[in-house]
Amino acid sequence: MSQLSVQHLLGIKYLTKNDIELIFQTADHFKEVINRPIKKVPSLRDITIANLFFENSTRTKLSFELAEKRLSADIINFSASQSSVKKGETLIDTVNNILSMKVDIVVMRHPSVGAGVFLSQHVDAKIINAGDGTHEHPTQALLDSYSIREKLGTVKGKKVVIIGDILHSRVALSNIFALKLQGAEVKVCGPTTLIPKHIKSLGVEVETNLKKALEWCDVANVLRVQHERMDVSYFPSTREYTQLFGINKELLDSLEKKIVIMHPGPINRGVEITSDVADADQSIILNQVENGVAIRMSVIYLLAQQIKH
Ligand code: CP
Repeated sequence: MSQLSVQHLLGIKYLTKNDIELIFQTADHFKEVINRPIKKVPSLRDITIANLFFENSTRTKLSFELAEKRLSADIINFSASQSSVKKGETLIDTVNNILSMKVDIVVMRHPSVGAGVFLSQHVDAKIINAGDGTHEHPTQALLDSYSIREKLGTVKGKKVVIIGDILHSRVALSNIFALKLQGAEVKVCGPTTLIPKHIKSLGVEVETNLKKALEWCDVANVLRVQHERMDVSYFPSTREYTQLFGINKELLDSLEKKIVIMHPGPINRGVEITSDVADADQSIILNQVENGVAIRMSVIYLLAQQIKH
């Protein structure tokens, strides 16, 4: 199989296990490319990509941009804060204006759940979801699983705990879909107020005791508390959250085995994770960022193969 089963990358829930394997195999090739002295291939010289970011981003935006440049695509960047969206233009009008400049692929981050799906039904371009509200962040989950595969040889059968604000996290949902599809065991851990009520229907177990969750797992994926998505207070204080759900070196050293530590970023050092844990040799946080470029090259390349000029 050398083609994705989907026309867009809107969420992990639309992918098959074979799609994920194809994305990883293609990323293996691109990872080798980006470690060469000349880190660029001419594959997408005939492709134009628009990066539309209606919400803040550091890693995802830079990573997509770099991936596109490494593939030799032409790119245009759009940031909502500096655009005519502020003057009342609709999403479809904004995107259609951009597409009239002959754009083939749109990478979009948007605060609304389903924005990517909506766009894919109304415009004639490949859509890649770079995060839609509290819903999905598919390339983050792909790079997370790819980093586990790189570190532990496989994702299948591994025990992964996702810790923190599960309720507001698109990273958590996409990771759950991706990990379950590949045969990992998944638990979530956090304050009960930040665990969605029906999470068990996704085949995930809930563990509210952090020490027990860490003793069980091979990999801990630590999430940030997303204060910007909270309209009410979900726990009494940040200090109490850190005491109950923060990962520190003492806690890690008390475990019988050395677990892998992951974090999608941005990190709130000293809140969900201490600096010595974030920078420890068992942390693969910067490997995740490095792998993000190869994964995004892979996704863009595979979708671009479906475009007929
Ligand atoms: N992990 C992630 O999505 O980071 P950014 O918000 O900086 O893109």
